[in-house]
Amino acid sequence: MDFGLKGKSVFVAAASKGLGKASALEFSREGAIVTIASRSLDELEKAAAEIRQETGNPVHVAAMDVNSLADIDAALAVAVNAGNGLDVLVTNAGGPAPGNFDNFDDAAWQKAFESNLLSVIRLIRGALPHMRDKGAGRIVNLTSSSIRQPISGLILSNTFRAGVYSLTKSLAIELAPQGILVNTVAPGRIATDRVAQLDENKAKNTGKSVEQIQAESIAQIPAGRYGIPSEFGKAVAFLGSFANGYITGQALLVDGGMVKAL
Ligand SMILES: NC(=O)c1ccc[n+]([C@@H]2O[C@H](COP(=O)([O-])OP(=O)(O)OC[C@H]3O[C@@H](n4cnc5c(N)ncnc54)[C@H](OP(=O)(O)O)[C@@H]3O)[C@@H](O)[C@H]2O)c1
Repeated sequence: MDFGLKGKSVFVAAASKGLGKASALEFSREGAIVTIASRSLDELEKAAAEIRQETGNPVHVAAMDVNSLADIDAALAVAVNAGNGLDVLVTNAGGPAPGNFDNFDDAAWQKAFESNLLSVIRLIRGALPHMRDKGAGRIVNLTSSSIRQPISGLILSNTFRAGVYSLTKSLAIELAPQGILVNTVAPGRIATDRVAQLDENKAKNTGKSVEQIQAESIAQIPAGRYGIPSEFGKAVAFLGSFANGYITGQALLVDGGMVKAL
C-alpha cells in the first residue's frame, strides 16, 4: 500500500524513545521528512541517527519540553523549515505520575493537565495554520487504553487521556471540512521504558517480583504478551498517512485484545 507520505513533513512529539520514536521510524520508512522532539538533545540525536541509518531518509531534531509553549513553537518551526510546511502532527508526552486520588494535590493535577492535555492543545494550535495552508493534514494523538477502561493506580492519566479523546472527536468534526483528519491511537501495554517503570513501581508497592507483576498483566491480554513498539508505530503511521482518507474522530486501541469494552 502507498501511504502517500513520501516527502511529507511529519512532526512527532516526545519521540526520543518508546512509542514516539517507534512512530517516527514508521513515517521515515514511508519516505517522510520527519522531525522528532523531546527534552534531551543527546537522546534525540541518537534516535535520529538510528532512524536515518535504517531508512536512509532525513530526520531532524528539536529540543522541546511539552510544558513550554515557547519550546513547542520553536520545535514546530524546525519541522516547517525542514519539510516545507507541515502535513502530519503526532502529539505525545511523558506519562504522568502513577497514584490514586488521595495522592495528588492541586499542583500535581495542574502539572498533569499541562503535560498531558494542554500540550496537545498547544501542539495542534501551532500546527493547524500550516495544515490549513496546504488544505490537508493528519493529526494523531497518542493516548492510552484508559480512554475506554480506566487503569487502577493511574488516575491522572485516566482523567486527561479522556480529555484528549474528547478533544480528538470534537476537532475531527470541526476540521474534516478543511481536509484535516484527527484520530487517537491508544496503547494497552507496549514494552517501553514507561511500562517497565510502572511494573517496577507496582512490584515495589505490592512486595511482588517484577516477573510476577508482568505475568499478572499478561494474563489480562488475550494475545498473551506485551506489544512491541513497532506494532504500535505502524498503526500511528497508517492513521497519520494519506492512505487514510476517510477515518477521523476514531480511537484505535493497540492492546492485544486487553480492553473488553465495546
Ligand atoms: N507504553 C505503553 O504501553 C503505554 C500505555 C499507555 C499509555 N502510554 C503513554 O504513552 C506515552 C509515551 O509512552 P512511552 O511508553 O513511549 O514512554 P517512554 O518510553 O518513557 O518515552 C517517553 C518519551 O517522552 C519524552 N518526554 C518525557 N517528558 C517529556 C516532556 N516534558 N517534554 C517532551 N518530551 C518528553 C521522553 O524523552 P525526553 O526524556 O528526551 O524528554 C521520551 O522520548 C506516555 O504518555 C505514556 O504514559 C504508554
